[in-house]
Amino acid sequence: MSVLVTGGAGYIGSHTCVELINAGVDVVIVDNFCNCKKSSINRIRALVNKDFTYYECDIRDKKGLDSIFKKEKIDSVIHFAGLKAVDESVYKPLEYFDNNVNGTLVLLDVMRNNGCKKIVFSSSATVYGMNNISPLTEDMQVGGVTNPYGRTKFMIECILQDLYVSDNSWSICLLRYFNPIGAHKSGTMGEDPNGIPNNLMPYITQVAIGKREYLNVWGDDYDTPDGTGVRDYIHVVDLALGHVKAVQKIEAGSGLYIYNLGTGKGYSVLDVVKAFEKASGVKIPYKIGPRRAGDIATCYSDPGKAYRELGWKAERDIEEMCEDSWRWQSQNPNGYPD
Ligand code: NAD
Ligand code: UFG
Repeated sequence: MSVLVTGGAGYIGSHTCVELINAGVDVVIVDNFCNCKKSSINRIRALVNKDFTYYECDIRDKKGLDSIFKKEKIDSVIHFAGLKAVDESVYKPLEYFDNNVNGTLVLLDVMRNNGCKKIVFSSSATVYGMNNISPLTEDMQVGGVTNPYGRTKFMIECILQDLYVSDNSWSICLLRYFNPIGAHKSGTMGEDPNGIPNNLMPYITQVAIGKREYLNVWGDDYDTPDGTGVRDYIHVVDLALGHVKAVQKIEAGSGLYIYNLGTGKGYSVLDVVKAFEKASGVKIPYKIGPRRAGDIATCYSDPGKAYRELGWKAERDIEEMCEDSWRWQSQNPNGYPD
């Protein structure tokens, strides 16, 4: 089986490529390297015993993408490529709609023209919006999103569902990720954000190595056990393994499938700080700040459907997530080499 992985050099994509190759799948990576370093490709190579091909190509480059499909024998696609910074999307909505939505339209058109009708899409728990009560299940209403990034995910879900209605020989899997953290056990692959991290774990690890003075905790007056936001953190390797199962599912027959990929457990910001301090032995100073716009109090999954239908569940706990994040950050204080 040969899988084209868009955004395969990024954080979740690189971990997924390792697990796909370990599972005997042939991988072809397409990435324009707008949010990752090329050295991540070498790190993937160093962890697997099999070579693979990568192309530097933007998914909006229809000709380039088409020639890749003509050259490689692609059975299915895992589509990670996209811009993902919530706050940036507020300032650059056109760039986000162009990259994420238009990019997906180009990809789907090229796939169809080349007879490839199987796709796994990286969606997000953000599509559940502000009003659903956790644990979130796949049948809840989606769409109450509050920012352009989230809207691109919701729009792409709609596009893929309409595509399936128009032609049910497609096999489409929408994976709604909760909060991926952690890193490969080796410490050689992990999350390497540009500039000041928006997300909690990379911010904590940068405080731990001394790059940032303290963590800002965005609000302690939520209706949660300690007042700080509660999220469903999932180890990136568990998430990667979920993709291996999802690809097997779409290979098995046509259909439209939607799954949460989360652990089903919620941890507050201060729970994560404590777990990280325990795993690393490093104290994380923090200051309580105001709430961050657009944040909700609590967001965690009901991961039961993925277990029932894919036989997948997350195995790695919050301690392991923190240990692995710390190993990556301490071994690579400046992230991937240029
Ligand atoms: P990432 O930025 O590390 O990876 C995305 C990759 O896509 C990068 O390597 C980037 O260079 C590439 N890319 C972006 N636009 C491209 C384009 N037009 N053509 C080709 N390549 C392009 O992000 P990630 O955390 O690995 O996320 C992967 C996917 O999962 C994204 O679609 C993201 O929105 C989604 N997601 C992530 C999270 C999270 O918290 N990390 C949560 C929910 C959903
Ligand atoms: N937080 C802080 N300080 C920080 C960063 C985060 O207190 O410096 C808090 C947030 O307020 C929130 C929690 O930590 O309570 C998690 O925040 P993240 O930014 O790490 O994650 P979010 O849940 O806000 O968003 C993530 C992804 C989105 C995705 C969403 C739902 O960044 O892309 O999960 O899947 F849409």
